[in-house]
Amino acid sequence: HSQIPVITIDGPTASGKGTVAHRVADRLKFHYLDSGALYRLTALSAIQHATPLNDEHALAKLAEHLPVKFENGEIFLNNKNVSNAIRAEEVGTLASKIASLPALRQALFALQLGFRKGPGLVADGRDMGTVIFPNAQLKVFLTASAEARAQRRYKQLIDKGFSASMEDLLCDLKARDDRDTHRAIAPLVPAEGAHILDTSNMTADEAVEQVLKWYAHPKG
Ligand code: CDP
Ligand code: CDP
Repeated sequence: HSQIPVITIDGPTASGKGTVAHRVADRLKFHYLDSGALYRLTALSAIQHATPLNDEHALAKLAEHLPVKFENGEIFLNNKNVSNAIRAEEVGTLASKIASLPALRQALFALQLGFRKGPGLVADGRDMGTVIFPNAQLKVFLTASAEARAQRRYKQLIDKGFSASMEDLLCDLKARDDRDTHRAIAPLVPAEGAHILDTSNMTADEAVEQVLKWYAHPKG
């Protein structure tokens, strides 16, 4: 199993992980794991079941039995297409709150390992290189300034028909960075041996080319 190549792309919110990981997977014809979606799906499920946020056991149970399907780039929860709903900022915020619960992270562990299938996998999140796939062939840590990331998120939300305020976004983004970086379990840090890529002044395609170059020339 550990022979199957994995590229991990970790980084803070709106650094471009999803976009870059998805394009790299397309180029290499690899599978793609959006691990953040699993935390977002658990958050959405908790909202739907009105599960209290302090009930770690109940939240872990939700995560373990997520009725989720990934099909042609769309995400279904209970056969309902939730691809857009899970991108709402409140769902992301809730996801980042429940992501600090050890039992919940444990519940999602095996599910994530299962995505490692031939010919290969590109996995994005916070702990892909540090915890889930520590033996990955290539580890990347994507980052960008808070302002660049807030600007990207703003554009994405408006394009999806959500309303958004730059000021609120920047504030939420910094709070999320803080929670993700300082939590006790699986905090957001570059994995050992990770290539760090600051994309503040790069297009997503330039970032994709850099990742592909690193993959093709590991020593380069
Ligand atoms: O797209 P964005 O970077 O804003 O978030 P995401 O990747 O969809 O993840 C939502 C939240 O889930 C993050 O703020 C993290 O707290 C959590 N998460 C995590 O703890 N570990 C992962 N591997 C992926 C996401
Ligand atoms: O997954 P993550 O939250 O890290 O970011 P994302 O959902 O991929 O969002 C990044 C947004 O910024 C997308 O709309 C990209 O087109 C855009 N973008 C990027 O990903 N990378 C750049 N270097 C520049 C812009």
